[in-house]
Formats: sequence, structure tokens, C-alpha cells
Amino acid sequence: MKALILVGGYGTRLRPLTLTVPKPLVDFCNKPMICHQIEALKAAGVTEVILAINYQPEVMMGFIKEWGERLGVKITCSQENEPMGTAGPLALARHLLDDGSGKPFFVLNSDVVCPYPMKDMLDFHLAREAEATILVTKVDDPSKYGVVVIDEYGQVQRFVEKPKEFVGDKINAGIYVLAPSVLDRIELRPTSIEREVFPHVAADKKLFAFTLPGYWMDVGQPKDYLKGLTLHLDNLRIHSRAALASGPDYTGNVLVAPSATIGSGCLIGPDVSIGEGCVIGNGVRLSNCVVMKGVKVKDHSKVDKSIIGWDSTIGAWSRLENHCVLGEDVQVKDELYLNGAVVLPHKEIKEAVPSPNIIL
Ligand code: GDD
Ligand code: MG
Repeated sequence: MKALILVGGYGTRLRPLTLTVPKPLVDFCNKPMICHQIEALKAAGVTEVILAINYQPEVMMGFIKEWGERLGVKITCSQENEPMGTAGPLALARHLLDDGSGKPFFVLNSDVVCPYPMKDMLDFHLAREAEATILVTKVDDPSKYGVVVIDEYGQVQRFVEKPKEFVGDKINAGIYVLAPSVLDRIELRPTSIEREVFPHVAADKKLFAFTLPGYWMDVGQPKDYLKGLTLHLDNLRIHSRAALASGPDYTGNVLVAPSATIGSGCLIGPDVSIGEGCVIGNGVRLSNCVVMKGVKVKDHSKVDKSIIGWDSTIGAWSRLENHCVLGEDVQVKDELYLNGAVVLPHKEIKEAVPSPNIIL
């Protein structure tokens, strides 16, 4: 079986991290976010994953070189010359997706995290004889998503992308099983699957919704990314407890890469991930934050609700809080207070940022 992951889009809402790598390659729980998806696809019997890309092809090729073999799946790229939206890439990759066998394939937005119930979704799709099956979940604020109205059998009555008025609270979770016939509905041009394809499949009564059991989050913006971290770690606690750190220095759910070193007298957690090669000093306090590969946090610093990009350094006795996002290789000097600072890659911060601000 095949799968296509939509890995284009500029990921502007996740800047400055996406100034270094495209959004699908931003680390989530210590590996590029699409690795979690590819692993789940493989477990469901997918043997070939097509990455639909529209910029930075060389970065994506580097990813395939580094991860392709490790993940044990054939990964290929389908490259657009202009952004083709969320449906156009399927038309472009038609020759790769439709091998004439009539078998369905998976399509995924690259920025959604959940327990990826691929196999159950496929069974549901086949049992309903659907043309398209979308994964749906319930959220408090549906306005920033695609909203679906479904009947008790799971048939989608309406699909409304980013509704201006309340339609319902069940939303498109960004993962689909599609029959090859859906490709006949898509023209080779920039076009949206949510606005120009699904409403028609729904009108033909061939669009079905599989309700996700378990957590879900679109991690395409910093606050949601940190919420997604909390939910994913909660799930690890239930299903792979041994993957989480334990001991007197940890509280709640904490993921620490094996090559990271942690000083003495720290208090780490809840909801923290610490990447490969990180060096955490003595007396450091970390909570609800992501510390990516190669970061140094010097003695007695405190980081809360923030994302620290690759290879950055936090000086001693510093305090970061309120959704700071540091890009790659940011150097924060000692004894500084950063409140909601968004810092572009390769910057040196020598002064406090007392209120939320973008540091260019
Ligand atoms: N190849 C390619 N080309 N991919 C693209 C392009 C493009 O031109 N534009 C966007 N993408 C990819 C993004 O990388 C992402 O993986 C996916 O398409 C969806 O784009 P987002 O920009 O993340 O959309 P969204 O979050 O506003 O809304 C979508 O996701 C929601 C769930 O998270 C929609 O599918 C909504 O209906 C859905 O509820
Ligand atoms: Mg998104």
C-alpha cells in the first residue's frame, strides 16, 4: 500500500524553526515530525511513502538519505514547481499513487499528531465502500479547521473548511484514505482538497468520517505544538512507560535522548523533551518545553512553556517563559529574562526581553 504526505507549505506559523528546516522536519519528541507518521504507516503495511514537496527539495533529499533506511520504507519525492495546495499534489503524483489495482492509499497532512489509527481507518473505509474516508476529532474551537457534519453511520453530510459561522465541533484531523477514483476529481493545478474536492464527494454521499479514538493536535503553531507534546507524552506514559525518564530529578512525563547529559539537582518536567547531545547544567528547572538536539542549558536556568531550537545555548541563571521560541543556534547570555521572545536563528541575545517580542 502507498501513502502520500503533504509536506509543502511554508510553515510560517512555526517560524523561526521553519527558517532552518521545512515544517515536517521540525523535531517533535526528538525526531522529525513526519518520522512518527512514517513509522505508523509502515506498521499498517505501507511500503512506499511519497513526499509531496514544493520547496527546499535538497533538505528533503537529505532527510530521505538520513532516515529512509532507518525507517525501512521506500520514500520518494514528488516535486512541485509552484505550490499546488492540498489537492494539486495528488494530481501531480497520480502516476505514483494509481497503479491500476484500484487499491486505496493514505494521504496525510504532515503536521498532525495522534495515535495514527491507520489500520482501523482502512478497515472502516473498506467496510463502508467509501470513496474517501477522513479521520475526524472533536475540538473546542473548530473555526481554524475543516468542519464536518456526519450522521450516525459516519457518512459526511457537509464539509466546510474554516467556517465563519458555527457548523459543528467535529473537524477534519488531516488524515485520509482515498480510492483512486478521487484522483479523477482533481485537476492538475493549485487546488484545495478541503474546498474543492471533499464537498463534492460529500454531496455524492461517498465521503465518510472515522472518529479518532485518542488525542489529536495540529502542531503547526508553537502553542499547539506544546499542547501536542503534552498529549503525546501522556500517551507514551500509557503505552510505552519505559521510554520516559524516571528518578528524583524528574516530575511528570519527560523524554530524554540517550546521549543527553543532565546535571545534578535539576527538576525536569512535567511535559519536557530533551534531544540528542543536549547538555543540561546543574540546578536547571525545565517544564512544558522542548529542548532540541545539541542545546546547552547552563546552571540554574529555568525554562517554561518554550521551544529551544537546535544547538542554542541558554546562559546561567536565565529565565525563559511564556512561549519563547528560539530558532537554531541562538545564544542567550547569562542572567537574562525572556518573556515570549521569538528569536531568529543565529542571534545573540545580550539584553532581557521583558514582554513578548520578535527579535530579528
Ligand atoms: N505539497 C504541498 N504543496 N503541501 C502543502 C501545500 C502545497 O502547496 N500547502 C500546504 N501543504 C501541506 C502542509 O505542509 C500541511 O502538511 C498540509 O498541507 C495542510 O496545510 P496546513 O497549512 O497545515 O493547513 P491547516 O492546518 O490550516 O488546515 C488543514 O489541516 C487541518 C487539520 O490540522 C486542513 O486540512 C483542515 O481541514 C484540517 O482541519
Ligand atoms: Mg496545519
